Amino acid sequence: MADTLTITDNRTGKQYEVPITDGTIRALDLRKIKASAEDFGLMTYDPAFTNTASCRSAITYIDGDVGVLEYRGYPIEQLAEHSSYLEVAYLLMFGELPTADQLTQWKQGITQHTLLHENIKHLMRGFRYDAHPMGVFLSTVGALSTFYPDAKQVDDPEVRLRHIARLIAKTPSIAAYTYRHTTGRFYVYPDNDLSFTGNFLNMLFKMTEAKYAVNPVLERALEVLFILHADHEQNCGTNAMRSIGSSEVDPYSATAGAAAALYGPLHGGANEAVLKMLEQIGSKANVPAFIEGVKKGEGKLMGFGHRVYKSYDPRAKIVKQAAYDVFEVTGKNPQLDLALELERIALEDEYFVSRRLYPNVDFYSGLIYQALGFAPGMFTVLFAIPRTAGWVAQWDELHRDADQKIARPRQIYTGHRTRAYVPMEQRA
Ligand code: CMC
Repeated sequence: MADTLTITDNRTGKQYEVPITDGTIRALDLRKIKASAEDFGLMTYDPAFTNTASCRSAITYIDGDVGVLEYRGYPIEQLAEHSSYLEVAYLLMFGELPTADQLTQWKQGITQHTLLHENIKHLMRGFRYDAHPMGVFLSTVGALSTFYPDAKQVDDPEVRLRHIARLIAKTPSIAAYTYRHTTGRFYVYPDNDLSFTGNFLNMLFKMTEAKYAVNPVLERALEVLFILHADHEQNCGTNAMRSIGSSEVDPYSATAGAAAALYGPLHGGANEAVLKMLEQIGSKANVPAFIEGVKKGEGKLMGFGHRVYKSYDPRAKIVKQAAYDVFEVTGKNPQLDLALELERIALEDEYFVSRRLYPNVDFYSGLIYQALGFAPGMFTVLFAIPRTAGWVAQWDELHRDADQKIARPRQIYTGHRTRAYVPMEQRA
């Protein structure tokens, strides 16, 4: 059996054979299919890229029908149980789990970059007290490009790696300063004796004590959340990272763009939207009416549904479990019962069952963040920190891929064609 596709163009009666590789055909192979010699050639129309592979990638594998997520072949459940965020960041970047020496070196390489230039502090002070944390975060990440002009040398793998380490190291510091800014507190410098997430908690919550005492349960819960959020193949934010990066801009500018994509409520902004939705529903008694409203198209059940997962998001299962661990320390988030009731009703309802809508990673994560003391505006920032590891790994892979060029989709033009300019006095 040949791995080819035979296409008959009924406009001309001509037949074409195009190769099939990895279950795909090359869109450019369709260009030779023409109705006439002047014809541009056939294109595909795929708004929102629902059935188009934009790259070859060896980083993250998802089987959405059965709810499988693997980083470099390692199941997310095993990584969440045994690994650390920085080990996972190494795995995403280099393709293999590190040896003890490699991990020590990698951690040192990251830790030495956790400090921010003092002018970043001044820059951040310029934001209004009530600025949305995600707006502050993505603007500040973009501003880093002005501090590191050598990051423009994107075709030098060593330069890329240096700035990748900086981005992984500095995003928690920027996030913590963002939080301190919006809560009116002084900024706390990193304490590099602590673990990656321990230091993050220190920068967020340290007050006047000499040394911040990290709660090990919260430290581990944050580590697990960071692992779960680290990468998710070609989602909206990662696609933005690759698309912007394909212009050969520096990685800080590309990461700011990826973070902007993540900010939206259909993507990483859903964790904030879930909490707002729960507040709006108010009590369990109001759940059936809310669900009926969703079914009538009056709004969405935020934290439900996914472009790729048509079964339970494997990350959501782990987040749900992590929530119970955190609540042991912080006390139960009163919204948990409401979320459980929403999930119970939705999973039994024909509307959600027939559309294969299940809880996604954002459904329960906000409950944990809220229990840790964050206002909903911070939630997506907490998603963006670990997703940085995925963005930079995907960006590095892009720059190693000989198939890639500047991203530039085609369009089907639906507007007017050439017409004469109309002077103002003659316009209707
Ligand atoms: N509530 C109610 N109906 C929904 C929902 C939802 N959350 N999600 C999808 N549907 C319906 C949708 O209206 C459509 O119905 P119909 O066939 O009758 O028109 C059907 O299910 C298929 O949905 P779709 O809009 O074609 O699916 P999509 O792949 O374009 O969108 C999604 C995926 C995640 C944007 C969408 O499910 C959604 O808006 N969910 C809520 C927002 C959310 O939780 N986003 C976080 C995603 S996971 C983390 C991340 O990516 O950052």
